[in-house]
Amino acid sequence: MKRRVKLWDKYFELFLEVDQIAQRVDELGKQLQKDYLGKRPIFVAVLNGSIHFASDLTRHFHDKCELSFVKYTSYQGVKSTGKLNRLLGMQENIFGRHVILIEDIVDSGLTVAGIFEELEALEPLSLRVVTLLYKPKALRHAVKPDYVGFEIANDFVVGYGLDYNGLGRNLPEVYRAVVDLAT
Ligand code: IMP
Repeated sequence: MKRRVKLWDKYFELFLEVDQIAQRVDELGKQLQKDYLGKRPIFVAVLNGSIHFASDLTRHFHDKCELSFVKYTSYQGVKSTGKLNRLLGMQENIFGRHVILIEDIVDSGLTVAGIFEELEALEPLSLRVVTLLYKPKALRHAVKPDYVGFEIANDFVVGYGLDYNGLGRNLPEVYRAVVDLAT
């Protein structure tokens, strides 16, 4: 049986091991480094979920870059409320800059679509999205992440920054919700 954790009322089983995540993040970092070499991009990480991903990813980018943070909410428990609220904006001027938005997961696409709209109004030279996880079957908004760590099914996942009602962000692995609780 796969390793399990219990958070609140739900069980989650191991989905992505530490090594799998590290290897993919390394590949993404190298790809970004190739694409943005000499361009001094500004990474904009979406709190709280992308904290570990942003930290690991940017440490694989061996050229000049900046790192900033924004914070939005849309989720309650395991469901999106469908409404995006900005809790923390950024201070950097991104006019004429290459901007890379770092997300933990693209689910309905609401968050990325909303942030995109706000950042595009600030006229960056380019704007792309890198996400660790992508649920293409859950997508409801016209966004397509440019760099994807793992495409996953429409499951609820926790760990490596992702939470279930505040718990699970500190898990080094990624776990997915177990549907059949009898097993
Ligand atoms: P979206 O706006 O529906 O694309 O969802 C984006 C945000 O919802 C992410 O940044 C996460 O904070 C949260 N979210 C979406 N799916 C999951 C999941 O499976 N586990 C934990 N959080 C999730």
